[in-house]
Amino acid sequence: MKRTLLDYLACPSCGGDINLSSVLADDGTEIHSGELQCASCGKTFPIIRGIPRFAHLQDVEQEKQATAESFGWSWQHFSHDDEKYAQQFLDWLGPVQPEFFKDKIVLEGGCGKGRHTRRIAFWGAKDVVAVDLSDAVEVAFASTRGIANAHIIQADIYRLPLRRVFDYAFSVGVLHHLPDPRAGFRSLVSRVKPGGHASAWVYGAENNGWIVRFVDPVRRTTSRMNRRLLFHLSKIPTALMYAATKLIYRPLNRSRAGAKLARHLFYNDYLNYISSFKWREQHSIVFDHLVAPTAFYISRDEFEEWWRDIEATEVVLGWHNKNSWRGFGRLPRGSSDRI
Ligand SMILES: C[S@@+](CC[C@H](N)C(=O)[O-])C[C@H]1O[C@@H](n2cnc3c(N)ncnc32)[C@H](O)[C@@H]1O
Ligand SMILES: [Zn+2]
Repeated sequence: MKRTLLDYLACPSCGGDINLSSVLADDGTEIHSGELQCASCGKTFPIIRGIPRFAHLQDVEQEKQATAESFGWSWQHFSHDDEKYAQQFLDWLGPVQPEFFKDKIVLEGGCGKGRHTRRIAFWGAKDVVAVDLSDAVEVAFASTRGIANAHIIQADIYRLPLRRVFDYAFSVGVLHHLPDPRAGFRSLVSRVKPGGHASAWVYGAENNGWIVRFVDPVRRTTSRMNRRLLFHLSKIPTALMYAATKLIYRPLNRSRAGAKLARHLFYNDYLNYISSFKWREQHSIVFDHLVAPTAFYISRDEFEEWWRDIEATEVVLGWHNKNSWRGFGRLPRGSSDRI
């Protein structure tokens, strides 16, 4: 943990200031071991292996715990980086572009392995504070270690240990895995200052009826399965998807005549999009779908309501690969009690 993170912290219980009460190991850039303390209520929070810990997995509700454990395992086993991540990230955030991050104070809700965190830091954010509930924070910390403007925190998105000082908050692929996605969204944007911006990317209800019908029942079993076994078993559906994307979707979509035909293929937009992904990435996507105990599919109407609910202006909602929604908007300038 870098000392500059203290500027953004607030007690998750009472909102009080957070001070550094002890430092046990420090390498000059990162505090590796120590303790934080709330100046108002006195609660303490340990810094372990460089990460301030505001949530303990064993203390959170069972549903959140199961989701976080699954993803913690997942990101620790799919900890690789990929050159496609930058474009994929921007596709999830559209219309946001790298220049948007310049000098901004950014909050990332559910950072997983930190693949976006480090990019935002390199794109010139003043600071990016990335939060995740799971052990994925260990991977995120390793990949951002020593980057002066990147900060990793272990915390629950519903109980953010942060002040309302952020210029921009975003969350990709996280909110639909929460027990109450809309409440998670509200909690995230509650740390954005008046007039700041927010983005979210969520699974869509539209066009995903087949997942709800066929994948959800399977997921109920696979999310409880031994993870190593699931890791290997999930190679079977991955092999099918990999073969279909490389041998059918990609070649067809690359020619004008083929693309006309491809439009009628099952789930063409998405499968064409991932057809250039390597095996490991496709395996990670399949594993992700099978390991997550909770997944909601959000309709456009409902997603629009989320943005109305926070009284956002300049809202841009978009269809991504015809199977998910991305949203971007601005918070009202006057502070609102509704958030
Ligand atoms: C599908 S992953 C997406 C990670 C990252 N946004 C990315 O795109 O690489 C979902 C992440 O949300 C995190 N998560 C789940 N529930 C959470 C909660 N209550 N608070 C914070 N993070 C949570 C998981 O641990 C996981 O890392
Ligand atoms: Zn406190």
